[in-house]
Amino acid sequence: MGILPLPTPQEVRMKDIAVIGLGQMGATLARLSLQAGWRVHVWNRTPGKAESLSAAGAGVAARPADAVRAAEIVVMCVHDYAAARQILDADGVDLAGKVLVQFTTGSPREAQDAAAALAAEGAGFVAGAIQVAPEQMGQPDTTILVSGAEEHVERARAVLAAYGGNIVHLGASPAAAATMDLATLSFVYGASLGFFQGAALAEREGLDVRRYGAIVHALAPSYGEFLRHEAGVIASGDYRITQSPLSISVDATRRIEDAMRARGLRTELPAAIAALLRRADEAGYGGEEFAAVAKVL
Ligand SMILES: NC(=O)c1ccc[n+]([C@@H]2O[C@H](COP(=O)([O-])OP(=O)(O)OC[C@H]3O[C@@H](n4cnc5c(N)ncnc54)[C@H](OP(=O)(O)O)[C@@H]3O)[C@@H](O)[C@H]2O)c1
Repeated sequence: MGILPLPTPQEVRMKDIAVIGLGQMGATLARLSLQAGWRVHVWNRTPGKAESLSAAGAGVAARPADAVRAAEIVVMCVHDYAAARQILDADGVDLAGKVLVQFTTGSPREAQDAAAALAAEGAGFVAGAIQVAPEQMGQPDTTILVSGAEEHVERARAVLAAYGGNIVHLGASPAAAATMDLATLSFVYGASLGFFQGAALAEREGLDVRRYGAIVHALAPSYGEFLRHEAGVIASGDYRITQSPLSISVDATRRIEDAMRARGLRTELPAAIAALLRRADEAGYGGEEFAAVAKVL
């Protein structure tokens, strides 16, 4: 394994970064950092995972402390925040004056606590959230969510640019990136489960599930536009009907629930959706835009 000589603190330049955690995602971040021209110092609990990065030019640190000492910006990407804290608590790790970019997935609360702990250690903190698979990283349209103090995000910006062309800074709150990640995942899981429930109905009726997938694929872009419109409705607080009256969805979701039941399929999901629409209707929002259901959530 090639080992870069560790620079003294005086030699540490903005061109040196550390990447800690070389799993699927961490190794991708390290590789993209190398390709972007950074001097990269890596550390991983299981040393073997550093071998291919070493061959590609990364310096392999024997301890987390050595990787941190060599770098100005420390990129962390391990399993969870508990593992990250364990690493940072190891002997000799001194983050004072550095910025930790945390790409380990965690809760909003964990990000907040980590930011406070790092501030007490004299370090900056950028909370990151990655929403794509490793092979989709580093593209011009790759979106990376970040939050944290402007000065810390700015110090890390050139590093972040190697990971995706669309860096979205969500503000100073360290919790914001994780919160937006969860909000987005709420959409993904809600839509996916609705999709799978629809597949069950199509299949039970002998329809071609691949064709069902193709039809959903074709409507996805316009559905995305519709959701952006509904977000604007919620943000403005003006729920006058502009696209789709909520009352239509009250009837549609009741029909979906009835159809699932009639075909002997599980009804927890369609029943929950129909019940929420009914509640919004009973609260008097039937004559408003569909997004008014958000008022009862
Ligand atoms: N892969 C994705 O598609 C993806 C997408 C978005 C976000 N993420 C997030 O990125 C983070 C890393 O994901 P990954 O896919 O790279 O996972 P992974 O391939 O399972 O790698 C996990 C990494 O965490 C390290 N680790 C786990 N427990 C540790 C501990 N107690 N002390 C030290 N190191 C420890 C592992 O070290 P060892 O090699 O020694 O086991 C390894 O480097 C996760 O928080 C994940 O949610 C991943």
